[in-house]
Amino acid sequence: MSLDNSCEPDELRQHWDAKYHAAPFERLSWYQSHPQESLRLVEATGIARDAPVIDAGGGASILAETLLNLGYTDVTVVDCSQAALDEARERLGASASPVSWVQGDIRSFRSAKKFRLWHDRAVFHFMTSEDDRRRYLASLDACLAADGAAIIGTFALDGPERCSGLAVQRYNAELISGVFAPRFELVSACDAQHLTPGGSTQAFAWFTFRRSG
Ligand SMILES: C[S@@+](CC[C@H](N)C(=O)[O-])C[C@H]1O[C@@H](n2cnc3c(N)ncnc32)[C@H](O)[C@@H]1O
Repeated sequence: MSLDNSCEPDELRQHWDAKYHAAPFERLSWYQSHPQESLRLVEATGIARDAPVIDAGGGASILAETLLNLGYTDVTVVDCSQAALDEARERLGASASPVSWVQGDIRSFRSAKKFRLWHDRAVFHFMTSEDDRRRYLASLDACLAADGAAIIGTFALDGPERCSGLAVQRYNAELISGVFAPRFELVSACDAQHLTPGGSTQAFAWFTFRRSG
């Protein structure tokens, strides 16, 4: 299937549902058994355990349950793939209920709840058109509390050029700061390697933003 992330929400959902159906989650390239970098950065923000947290494009990630186990009580996961959300919910069983699972396109996501923390691992880099980035940032702007933080993990400049059949935009601190300005300012950046289930490494770059001024 040839597609970019600019496609309609239904097409996007079908694309990602097919990816999650194609193989067990533990064999998908972005799978990780422990969200080490995410957790370190979440804890570094110093948010309270009852602060609202959103995992944007969280899919079937282990992050939501890891946060619950650490005592975070207000966790929302938004993803365009219902298959991914079902996978996570089934894995969690009865403990899935404190999490709000929302099937939707993050480019148009709005919430009455203002999140103190927005987390995104490997989703923003699929926003390869200016319009997608503008819409993603409008969602972030609308949903993030005034004193909120956003943690964004993307492929680094020496990371893969594509993922799951889609082109990605790779970033370093300078490039992503330019995209997030003027509404958001970069407060930290670091690199990390992801070891895929297939045994290859992918260079990631992690960024934390806060609202400017
Ligand atoms: C590479 S996976 C990463 C999943 C998860 N963040 C993790 O670390 O395991 C990308 C995820 O973004 C979701 N996604 C892609 N575009 C999206 C969009 N526009 N809105 C919501 N979710 C999206 C996909 O369904 C998929 O779950």
